Amino acid sequence: MNDVILREYYDFISLDITSNCNLRCPFCSNDFRYIPDNINMTKKTFEKAIKLLSLAKDDRFMFSCAFEPSINPNYVQLLKMIPEEGKNKCFLTTNLSLKQPEETFKALAESNINYINISLDSLNPVTYESLRKGAKFDNFISNLETMVSTFKKYPNAPKIKFITMVFKQNIGELLTVAHICHSRYLAYEHEFRTPVYDTYSYIDEEWAKNSVISRLEWDSLIENLSKLQYRFGFGPPPFPAHSGSEAECPDSIVLRIDSDGTTLIKNKNYGNINDIENPYEFFKSKLYELRNDKKQEMINVRVYKPKEKIEKFIKDNQGKKICFWGAGDLAKIILDAYDFSKLNVLGFIDGNKDKKGQKIGNYTIYSSADLELLDPEIIVLSVLEFKYLANLVNKILKDKNLKIKVIDDLFY
Ligand SMILES: C[S@@+](CC[C@H](N)C(=O)[O-])C[C@H]1O[C@@H](n2cnc3c(N)ncnc32)[C@H](O)[C@@H]1O
Ligand code: SF4
Repeated sequence: MNDVILREYYDFISLDITSNCNLRCPFCSNDFRYIPDNINMTKKTFEKAIKLLSLAKDDRFMFSCAFEPSINPNYVQLLKMIPEEGKNKCFLTTNLSLKQPEETFKALAESNINYINISLDSLNPVTYESLRKGAKFDNFISNLETMVSTFKKYPNAPKIKFITMVFKQNIGELLTVAHICHSRYLAYEHEFRTPVYDTYSYIDEEWAKNSVISRLEWDSLIENLSKLQYRFGFGPPPFPAHSGSEAECPDSIVLRIDSDGTTLIKNKNYGNINDIENPYEFFKSKLYELRNDKKQEMINVRVYKPKEKIEKFIKDNQGKKICFWGAGDLAKIILDAYDFSKLNVLGFIDGNKDKKGQKIGNYTIYSSADLELLDPEIIVLSVLEFKYLANLVNKILKDKNLKIKVIDDLFY
């Protein structure tokens, strides 16, 4: 497990090659009342933006995500500019509703995109057109058929994933939709979603009342879909259970590049990418700065703020056999900040096998396979992401049938 402060990459680089859409779906995550006219990303801007590809985690470089890429007349040319590395990093999402020539699908098939998300809410023309407002079902389905028949000729074509927004209007047909997407339309994966929380603040209330499904309907859909042996993803359950996406997680570092080249991180404007001479070096150094800020913030919260609690723990557990779990940056800082010599510290456990046998301070690093031999009375989690680790540690102990007290909140 990587500590937050050890990140080498942006969690997401979120690009859009346009800033608007050809449709007006009644559930859209964009509040179009405040969205200005479309600006298409130019080849010059994209050439700069694509230089940042290697700063994104795998599968986290969005070629286009919030708006509609196919309305950019340079769509195909921009796709052709994605270098080979894109095969690990790049994806896009499209409504596939603008009638496209076969050339577009050839370019997509030959592109270095890893996968393409296709929004498909219904295979019933009337339902489809009521949800995808402004789209023609015939155009959509003809695009999809052409895309699939073209992709079949290219073994390295991008994977096809489907995203289906679930509403009362389409819920009855979704098992069939899932089946058809997999059997006929090359679905690699199929994600089902209901609108993210923010959407409810501006979409038409009456429409929402007649369309949004209940939690019961959602749970039953998931149960039924899960019986099909396909690869599914499930997005937010219906309001009010859901809040935000992974990209909005407060710990995530997301670099946003608007279609006019404006760059933003956590709402701070870093200028237009066209005015930055070497975007790769510039945003790499920003990543280090942001990481260090985060590291400092974490150290204050996790190491110095709980001082009293940590000192009490040392006093109350003198002589007890303790293992720390996590031999990363936080552990090093803790060892510098506190004197643990009154405890009987047996060593540090770490999931990274390369660390096994190495030292952290005066202590040896072990793997979880050594737990029985070490036989600690208490395990103290010494990582930043302790909540995630706590589940894993408890599972490992359960599998090994070991009854050891786990303290997951000493550094919090
Ligand atoms: C915002 S759209 C942009 C891309 C493209 N215009 C499209 O619809 O495919 C990206 C994806 O989010 C889905 N989406 C739209 N509105 C949403 C909402 N309110 N909450 C969650 N997902 C939403 C869309 O169906 C689409 O699959
Ligand atoms: S097609 Fe996508 S961006 Fe356009 S209105 Fe519909 S959900 Fe929103």
